Amino acid sequence: MIGLFDRLARPLLRALDPEDAHRLAIRLLQFAPLPPPARDDRRLAMRVFGLNFRNPIGIAAGFDKNAEVPDALLRAGFGFVEVGTITPKPQSGNPRPRLFRLDADGGVINRLGFNSEGADTVLRRLAARAAPSLSATANGGEWGGGIVGINVGANKDTADRIADYVQLIERFAAVASYVTVNISSPNTPGLRNMQQAAVLDDLLARVIDARERVAPQAGPTPVLLKIAPDLSLPDLDDAVGIARARRIDGMIVGNTTVARPAGLREATKAKEAGGLSGRPLLPLADRMLAETYVRVEGVFPLVGAGGIDSGASALAKIRAGASLIQIYSGLVFRGLGLVAEIKAALLDALERDRQNSLADHVGADAAAVTAEPWPR
Ligand SMILES: Cc1cc2nc3c(=O)[nH]c(=O)nc-3n(C[C@H](O)[C@H](O)[C@H](O)COP(=O)(O)O)c2cc1C
Repeated sequence: MIGLFDRLARPLLRALDPEDAHRLAIRLLQFAPLPPPARDDRRLAMRVFGLNFRNPIGIAAGFDKNAEVPDALLRAGFGFVEVGTITPKPQSGNPRPRLFRLDADGGVINRLGFNSEGADTVLRRLAARAAPSLSATANGGEWGGGIVGINVGANKDTADRIADYVQLIERFAAVASYVTVNISSPNTPGLRNMQQAAVLDDLLARVIDARERVAPQAGPTPVLLKIAPDLSLPDLDDAVGIARARRIDGMIVGNTTVARPAGLREATKAKEAGGLSGRPLLPLADRMLAETYVRVEGVFPLVGAGGIDSGASALAKIRAGASLIQIYSGLVFRGLGLVAEIKAALLDALERDRQNSLADHVGADAAAVTAEPWPR
């Protein structure tokens, strides 16, 4: 079914303007009669921040920004879906064009700028699906609950950014499997300054406080922090130190990069402002993940995102330090079949090493990756 979907849809999607193609992909998923997913091999299961993932492959934030198709994505084989980024109030984001495909490089540049239908609409959608998801968890079902996290951000024109994060955590904790605090998108002016130590400490203190306040009604909700791959290593030291001190549940490493690695073939599109993702991001994303892993010392797990477009790059991400992985741009170039390809590659690696769990691979290469020359 997924193979058929890919074969029919992808040539069409590739011929369209990237943003129109994205809209159409969401529509197709809304109407595609995807059957429930086949049961995943038990060796792919991961227990991370208190949640049971049936496999470690998630779809990264930005694909289903408004929670229109989380269940279709779970049926397509993902182990978890991160919807968002959502902002408290609806906002339209930057003017089009704002999304560019670097075909020859396997990369994407976006400067969407948090286009969001806003919290009310997204909350309604997630509340409507929360009941079946929670009962699947209660049954201890093989589905692992259909894990759907929500990625939250601040409105562009807000007077108090931290208050935006706090209100979104309070409102969404009850309907989300976890919440990601996104302070790393390059397309909202000043947002990434929240990664600076004093602001980050205040943000995480208030966010964790909000989570604790609603926990009696909402239950335990893991809080993750998503960082940029462009942090300097001293800034990463600070971010990890604060994240550990404030006892957050995990980090996502990371978002798109404002850097433009040497050797991009799509030279004209590479000059577009925005965040670069996809294959050209892989070396930097893997390096920052490994640098984060060695600093975290196992205190909390990491989610690895950036540049995964094959089974090999997925396994490398796990070995660089990721307990879970997320993909977005790889789907643009490889289609939904990439999910099954990654699962097969991970199982091959387990067979080869006669292991029963992916946990044995997590971080196995982190120290080696940090010893390599810095990627350019
Ligand atoms: C079109 C597009 C939109 C994105 N929107 C968001 C977003 O709203 N929030 C966020 O945290 N990350 C967003 N991202 C970043 C992805 O979640 C991911 O961190 C990044 O693209 C690296 O993964 P990839 O190389 O597999 O795409 C977006 C990425 C793309 C390509």
